[in-house]
Amino acid sequence: MLTKEKQAQLQALVHNATKEELAWVNGYLSGLLGEGLTTASSNLAVGAPQKLTIAYGTETGNSKKLATDLVAIAKQKKLLTKLVSLDQYRLSDLAKEEYFVTVISTQGEGDPPPAAQKFYDHIHRSGFQLPQLKFSVLALGDTSYPLFCKAGEDVDSQLEKLGGKRIVPIQKCDLDYQADAERWFQTVLDQVFQAGQSNPVEQTKPTETVVKPAAKPAGKTIYQGDILTHFNLNDRGSKKETWHIEIAAEGLTYESGDSIGIVPKNDPVTVAAILSVTGIDGATEFAYKSVNSSFYELLDAKLNIANLSEKVLERIGAIIGQDLKGASLDLLGILQKFSIQSKETIEAILNVLIAQSPRLYTVSSSPAAQGEEVHITVARDIFWIGEEKKYGRCSDFLSKHQVGDQLSFFVQKNKRFKLPAQDKDVIMIGPGTGIAAFRGFLYEREAIGATGKNWLFFGEQHFATDFLYQTEIQNWFATGVLNKAELAFSRDQKEKIYVQHRIKEQGAELFQWLEAGAYVYICGKKDPMSTDVENALIEVIQIHGNKTEEAAKAYFNELKDNHRYHKDVY
Ligand SMILES: Cc1cc2nc3c(=O)[nH]c(=O)nc-3n(C[C@H](O)[C@H](O)[C@H](O)COP(=O)(O)OP(=O)(O)OC[C@H]3O[C@@H](n4cnc5c(N)ncnc54)[C@H](O)[C@@H]3O)c2cc1C
Ligand SMILES: NC(=O)c1ccc[n+]([C@@H]2O[C@H](COP(=O)([O-])OP(=O)(O)OC[C@H]3O[C@@H](n4cnc5c(N)ncnc54)[C@H](OP(=O)(O)O)[C@@H]3O)[C@@H](O)[C@H]2O)c1
Ligand SMILES: Cc1cc2nc3c(=O)[nH]c(=O)nc-3n(C[C@H](O)[C@H](O)[C@H](O)COP(=O)(O)O)c2cc1C
Repeated sequence: MLTKEKQAQLQALVHNATKEELAWVNGYLSGLLGEGLTTASSNLAVGAPQKLTIAYGTETGNSKKLATDLVAIAKQKKLLTKLVSLDQYRLSDLAKEEYFVTVISTQGEGDPPPAAQKFYDHIHRSGFQLPQLKFSVLALGDTSYPLFCKAGEDVDSQLEKLGGKRIVPIQKCDLDYQADAERWFQTVLDQVFQAGQSNPVEQTKPTETVVKPAAKPAGKTIYQGDILTHFNLNDRGSKKETWHIEIAAEGLTYESGDSIGIVPKNDPVTVAAILSVTGIDGATEFAYKSVNSSFYELLDAKLNIANLSEKVLERIGAIIGQDLKGASLDLLGILQKFSIQSKETIEAILNVLIAQSPRLYTVSSSPAAQGEEVHITVARDIFWIGEEKKYGRCSDFLSKHQVGDQLSFFVQKNKRFKLPAQDKDVIMIGPGTGIAAFRGFLYEREAIGATGKNWLFFGEQHFATDFLYQTEIQNWFATGVLNKAELAFSRDQKEKIYVQHRIKEQGAELFQWLEAGAYVYICGKKDPMSTDVENALIEVIQIHGNKTEEAAKAYFNELKDNHRYHKDVY
């Protein structure tokens, strides 16, 4: 409890405060509680302290983690700071913000993360201005994508168009973002505090200490799983390999619709070849970003040595004095081509490589049915460089595992891809590995005895070799878990038949399901599949709902707004 005297002081402080000021005080006090009230309150800035909002838009958690680190730094400087996810951000608050920092990644092909879509769409609507806003954008991306940090760039230019003033220019970060982000944030803070000094009300000056992130949040739980089952779902003669992998892990918690993240190891043959070409023993220690690791550890698991981005090639080129622009070379290729054996040169090269990143796989199981087991459905990624057949790193790594092997992974929650109440009807559209999510959903609905109807659309190349999970799907159909199943085998006839052809054929009944309140889910490849399927759905609504194209689109958008249309596409 407060003493009478303190109560009076508090009442005097809040008496004439606006609603917004009260909200800030509330946020500030919550922050103090997290940091230790006594120390913080003794440094509390009085008068008109700058208020900073840090809003993040994330898909795989990097922006959230980084934004949390930045908030900790700002709070160390006694800046009133609010942390919020863009999907929970009240859009009407934007006009009232003083300093607004957004940390946003790019997903898909230059798109904002789904959690930031509403914010992104809002700022791209015309008809309003944000003259008060002082903003800065920290954009996370990956230089191996053609549209590097595109979502961040869009937000940055759009906020300027709306009349906002940039605090400092946008910072675009690659996968090794931490140091760049912290340096950039220091300049943001410098600007914010400088503005505070020119303010008539005295403001606490930042201390001149080197900015270090506060202790990192616990982060994701890494599970150590045992592989129980591992087999190829495609039959002999198929052009594809799709691996069904069942993993058991003690204490595992997830929900159907989530994904798991796996960091692959590098190809052991390539690693052995690098050791041989360089003549350096695997146990030799190298300093990578100031931390010592053995050469073998770095090559085996820590670094991306296969798919080198233009930026990485450029940096290696600068180290070895060669023009590597446009070269389709991996680390081994470079070391071989230029006969590099000097330890110093190799250490410099290792330091411009990027850490191996996790790949996500939608779970194809349900904890209601499989308990502490998670299943995944992995297409071995095949591509060609000239005449040479190549494999994607993680899908190749996973395809080569065996029953009894151990595998580390984390759970990536996907709260936007969850089943509705058990009595609602669902329409699931999942060609190829898109079936993963719906195998999980069907196991879930079967286990909980859901009363809603289930309709599946599945497509693959050939009925004989590529009907993934054929027996389970047929069993669900036989037992009534699946009320309807539409199959599209694209290459069993001259003309391609895809799931959207089946959607159109079944248009009348599909529209009835929609009218009766069905939920629609789509999983699998983003382009062109999901775009084509969306167009087919709009066509069905137009024809069978007897609507204009515009009205059909509005109906479809309403499905989205009412959370009756969900996508897990990449
Ligand atoms: C939320 C989510 C869920 C997903 N669910 C599934 C799922 O259920 N099942 C599934 O199979 N996949 C799924 N994916 C895709 C999966 O995460 C991986 O992207 C996929 O397995 C390919 O990864 P990879 O490591 O095998 O390929 P990578 O090594 O990452 O290669 C990908 C591509 O990069 C290019 N590339 C790679 N190396 C080189 C090189 N040396 N030179 C030139 N180009 C190169 C090629 O075009 C290649 O196809 C999902 C993705 C997300 C984001
Ligand atoms: N969540 C995921 O689930 C997922 C996500 C991303 C990426 N992948 C990656 O994509 C690659 C292959 O994926 P996949 O095995 O799932 O199969 P896929 O390539 O998506 O093929 C599945 C089926 O969809 C058909 N298809 C092709 N274009 C289509 C379109 N525009 N509309 C509708 N259907 C279309 C294919 O036909 P044709 O082949 O005959 O044209 C095939 O019959 C893998 O390398 C995997 O890593 C999977
Ligand atoms: C499916 C997928 C698509 C991506 N597309 C892009 C892209 O188009 N441009 C880009 O710069 N980065 C792209 N990235 C890289 C992410 O932006 C990067 O990994 C970032 O650190 C993720 O941050 P987040 O965890 O906050 O979402 C993509 C990543 C994934 C998994």
